[in-house]
Amino acid sequence: MTGSNPTAPDTSALRAFLDASPTPWHAVDAASRLLDAAGFVEADVAMGFDRTGPRRYVRRNGSLVAWQHGAGAAATTPFRIAAAHTDSPGFRIKPHPTSTVAGCVRLGVEVYGGPLLNSWLDRDLGVAGTVLVDIGGSLEMRPVIDRDAVVRIPQLAIHLDRTVNDTGLKLDRQQHLPLLWGLDDTSTDFTDYLADLADVAPSSIRGFDLAPFDCTPARVVGRRGEFLASARLDDLLSCHAGIEALIAATPSDEVVAVVVLVDHEEVGSTSSTGAAGRFVPQLIERIGAGLGADRPSFLEALASSHAVSLDMAHATHPNHPERHDPSHPVALDGGPVIKHNAQQRYATSLASITPFLEACDDAAVPVQDFVSHSGMPCGSTIGPALSAELGIPVVDVGVPQLAMHSVRELCGSADPELLRRALTRYLSVA
Ligand code: CO
Repeated sequence: MTGSNPTAPDTSALRAFLDASPTPWHAVDAASRLLDAAGFVEADVAMGFDRTGPRRYVRRNGSLVAWQHGAGAAATTPFRIAAAHTDSPGFRIKPHPTSTVAGCVRLGVEVYGGPLLNSWLDRDLGVAGTVLVDIGGSLEMRPVIDRDAVVRIPQLAIHLDRTVNDTGLKLDRQQHLPLLWGLDDTSTDFTDYLADLADVAPSSIRGFDLAPFDCTPARVVGRRGEFLASARLDDLLSCHAGIEALIAATPSDEVVAVVVLVDHEEVGSTSSTGAAGRFVPQLIERIGAGLGADRPSFLEALASSHAVSLDMAHATHPNHPERHDPSHPVALDGGPVIKHNAQQRYATSLASITPFLEACDDAAVPVQDFVSHSGMPCGSTIGPALSAELGIPVVDVGVPQLAMHSVRELCGSADPELLRRALTRYLSVA
């Protein structure tokens, strides 16, 4: 008898999305492919959005905005927005990366966001991102991915650090994190390597934005397949649920349904495509303009608009229950979590909860409440920035998980579908 379990929820589409998306660029590519297959048409971000076609999207680097509405949508039709982030904590390879110590060639990295550094040790890591190449005098950004295990951060043997299990692992970010890449011989020129990946001559390489990623694919685990283990659940699970929900939602004359996927949440969202700036408000206004809205009618549409900010939530950790508020247990596979914080680290308010709760009720999806242990600092999301920038109510919601910001995170395998169902209803309701 095998241990496989045919009754586990089907997470194959989500797992394919996670595995296809080691960087924000690749996540946007993967989301675009899903939208293309569903009949969405890409609009040029540098052109006006007229009414041609009811289902469209635009992309800009690691961010994407997709929307749909019925043929009767007008200048003052309100927006229903579901927003998530495409980036995850990890590393970025430094511009001049190579150094040699003890005959080993290493690639220097910067830390991106707040990863659990220990989780990256002793993993087989690939390299992915974007390379800037010179094609006949014009520069072009080219996504690249190397799924071979080309780099690794080997841990120090316990014989050389006897107390590590009792005193905790300490990692110096400059000294201890460079990626082991090869032995010091003629085959370890980084520009040659990139040229091979991008399929250009070495002299054409002008720059890069590259990150290591765990080669291990997403996998269902647990006695009955109760769990899903993967890199980047935070926040690609939400990105995938949002895109699938928009595709499944019924276009309506009463509402412009929008899904926003933005980069740079893990480093504070302040960027040309992040949530704490003008990228999202400008795009929403331009979608309104495509429906004939001038500024007053756009503001009128916003006055009855609202949004769901999607980011992963903390499930109660069974080995560390003292880190959680005992009156607010959060269960894996217990349904989407509504996040509360009196300091507005989450955007949730009574006004913003209402439409999401109604959607969950209609879709028969259970919801849970999260509030931090009062002795722990609270994390944050894109919710407060979106709410402030757009001036609309935003509820912070997420699928519960364990090991947040580990390179290998864990969630329940039934929760992704519960979120997708709730969002489909949310984006369909006037
Ligand atoms: Co997140």
